[in-house]
Amino acid sequence: MLGRTGEKIAAIGLGTWGIGGGMMPNYSADKQAIEAIRHAVKLGMNHIDTAEIYGGGHAEELVGEAIKEFARDDIFIASKVWHTNLRYDDVLRACERSLKRLQTSYIDLCYIHWPNPSIPLSETMRALERLYDEGKIRYIGVSNFSASLVEEARSCLSHADIVADQVEYSLYERSIERDLMPYCLREGITIVAYSPLGQGKLVRELHDGRSRRARILMEIAKRYSKTPIQVALNWVIWHEHVITIPKSIRREHLEENAEAAGWKLDEKDYKLLAEAWG
Ligand SMILES: NC(=O)c1ccc[n+]([C@@H]2O[C@H](COP(=O)([O-])OP(=O)(O)OC[C@H]3O[C@@H](n4cnc5c(N)ncnc54)[C@H](OP(=O)(O)O)[C@@H]3O)[C@@H](O)[C@H]2O)c1
Repeated sequence: MLGRTGEKIAAIGLGTWGIGGGMMPNYSADKQAIEAIRHAVKLGMNHIDTAEIYGGGHAEELVGEAIKEFARDDIFIASKVWHTNLRYDDVLRACERSLKRLQTSYIDLCYIHWPNPSIPLSETMRALERLYDEGKIRYIGVSNFSASLVEEARSCLSHADIVADQVEYSLYERSIERDLMPYCLREGITIVAYSPLGQGKLVRELHDGRSRRARILMEIAKRYSKTPIQVALNWVIWHEHVITIPKSIRREHLEENAEAAGWKLDEKDYKLLAEAWG
């Protein structure tokens, strides 16, 4: 579920940072990215995470192209406004540009990508609430916000609410467990975990296979008849209100990631991993 909205959202979605050819024309990289997005949707990973900054807007264009063959309401698109575009008019303009690149009339979830202390949060939230009222964005989110900043952002909204905070969370990066996670779990705000595979670090550590914690992960995976990557992703989404968006452009990886949801690690294995990787 997304926040307290009652809206269902895939526990494993798809990240799009670094997909495609970026600003330089690269037909084969773009084709691979479009095919990957389509494959992900067919596997049920229909929460596609992008941002105006990814590839200078090109990632949004690729998402727009990829989703054309699906019914729009079968796809959940999340995008982000970059931190230099947080003035009232800049937010409105950034959203229009994103809609154009995505070839859609609405973004499901629009985040502030990073906080910007030099622009009053109230100004940004007012613009997001206007887009929300106009139906151009269905939900408002923040990214890389601490619990106190989420509170501040919420207090700037008159009738909408923050439904999600997108933050880094993985076996490697656990700092949200201190304050943000308890706050979001209590308030029913979805945590969207980015870089759940440590941007590929986990794959390298598993390949090396020498660390004690990697061996524990592999042993647990064997017991569940899952792969270590699936266990690591399942660990990330173990708590209610935590979902994730691993990035992949490879069919076999997408298929592996899709199978990381729909089951749950036992509490003792969840804790075993938390301790081993803590
Ligand atoms: N809000 C923010 O500030 C922020 C910051 C960073 C990221 N994000 C979002 O979060 C998404 C995910 O994070 P990320 O891209 O940083 O890192 P990630 O998802 O932790 O790792 C991506 C890397 O893992 C590989 N991979 C994925 N599935 C795999 C599998 N089953 N087996 C082996 N390798 C696999 C990918 O390679 P292949 O493509 O070759 O599979 C890629 O190299 C981003 O794409 C972006 O949408 C947001």
